[in-house]
Amino acid sequence: MPVTKHNYTNNEVTVVWKPDTCIHSRICWKGLLSVFNPAKRPWIDMGAEPTDRIIEQVKQCPSGALTYYLNKETGNEMPVQPETIAPVLGVEVQPDGPIIITTDCRIRHSNGDTETRQGKTALCRCGASANKPYCDGSHKTGHFKG
Ligand code: FES
Repeated sequence: MPVTKHNYTNNEVTVVWKPDTCIHSRICWKGLLSVFNPAKRPWIDMGAEPTDRIIEQVKQCPSGALTYYLNKETGNEMPVQPETIAPVLGVEVQPDGPIIITTDCRIRHSNGDTETRQGKTALCRCGASANKPYCDGSHKTGHFKG
């Protein structure tokens, strides 16, 4: 199953958005609405803030749906992970929400297909996601406690 990616750049940095990974935490647009505005199209405006401020906000993404790479370094996307997550564990259980795999991983789907995921992956723990095994933010209805 291919991963959908959308790239946005200001010629210094490229922000990569993976909508299937997004858990709709709203942290990006609450933290930097001038750049991440879901009411606009395109929803990411790379000209609205300096590169360092955009990178700072991308690092706050809890699911890994937003990552970035510096264009001068070209090549592979660099997943961003918070420094507070222990890299040895690689798994974080969010209260009333998904399980976050904080490292690269390989998912084997029920039909036998495998998929390699880079950076963070949010797995549904509530059972309500329409995009299983991934979290789609449906847990926010409040029906799931755990
Ligand atoms: S945990 Fe997020 S949709 Fe189920």
